[in-house]
Amino acid sequence: MKGAKIIGTGSYLPEKILTNFDLEKIVDTSDEWIRTRTGIEERHIVADDEAASSLVVNAARKAMEMASIKPQDIDTIICATISPDTPFPSTGCWVGTALGIEGVPAFDVSAACSGFLYGLIVADSLIKAGTAKRILVSGVEILTRITNWTDRTTCVLFGDGAGTVIMEESDDDSGILSSYWGADGSLGDLLIQPAGGSRMPPTHETVDKNLHTIYMKGNEVFKHAVRKMALAAEKVLVKANIKPEEIALFIPHQANIRIIDATIKRFGIPREKTMVTIDKIGNISSATIPISLDWAVREGRIKKGDLVLLDAFGGGFTWGATLMRW
Ligand code: ACO
Repeated sequence: MKGAKIIGTGSYLPEKILTNFDLEKIVDTSDEWIRTRTGIEERHIVADDEAASSLVVNAARKAMEMASIKPQDIDTIICATISPDTPFPSTGCWVGTALGIEGVPAFDVSAACSGFLYGLIVADSLIKAGTAKRILVSGVEILTRITNWTDRTTCVLFGDGAGTVIMEESDDDSGILSSYWGADGSLGDLLIQPAGGSRMPPTHETVDKNLHTIYMKGNEVFKHAVRKMALAAEKVLVKANIKPEEIALFIPHQANIRIIDATIKRFGIPREKTMVTIDKIGNISSATIPISLDWAVREGRIKKGDLVLLDAFGGGFTWGATLMRW
């Protein structure tokens, strides 16, 4: 069975930047608290006329240019998001139409911050099974539209953006070597957008109570994130018989610099081999890993043959890791 590899990456961040100092004027917080507790300095915020699909389209155009392909060369569209254009149709369908791709399957994956890795694992399986040949996999979020701007424990964390990769069958030993994923819905209430679904449909009361925004018990989530990201990374390394010191670049989900540091400490992966983008983009849930991967590729931090480890944890709870040879 042939493997599946990434042949192009692209990312897009909205123009407007919101700094920690801007947030000091909105809620009772400080640049010092946000930087030391999270590692975030600034985040990007969408313009009024932008939606998740338009962010993906901008990122996808760059990925297609890198891969030297046209939209018509794509035969499957997967979008990981918890902030879709519309509950349905899926963001994947809107992206397909905007790119002029007709008639190919398009769907969304909902796994919060692990969403992009879930999408990558699905794409890898579809290619290995021969069901698809060339897949557009994106992570996109407009979290600032589901943020409670009166809650200082969450509104300082999130941002907007999109990252995209194009995957196809590998003709050499490059591509995804091993993956691991999991979920535990019993802890779902610790990180949740409570209203807007069939359990709690929108009413005036749900809007008045800010129940359409992200609710998070941050310190509880923190403990689970460190444990599960370490577990996922260990599983993929053992499965592929690779030692942590062989990893050329570690790209973790960017939720908190302290979670990243705790995870790399467990594995003995140095900071120099770890992609850190949280200072510039904040937590963009499913988009942080593909954006960080795109920056790493364009900065020349990944060379042909390098081992790259991606690792995430998010609402659900969900977690996952993927090890690939570039
Ligand atoms: N400014 C100033 N003070 C604040 C702020 C703020 N923005 N936010 C909270 N505080 C205060 C709290 O009120 C509390 O004060 P108290 O001690 O007087 O009660 C104090 O700071 C400590 O609060 P904690 O919540 O214990 O702070 P913690 O160190 O845990 O940091 C944080 C909070 C940053 C949210 C952290 O817990 C975290 O990163 N959690 C994990 C997030 C994560 O991984 N999410 C998963 C992915 S997200 C997704 O799936 C959408």
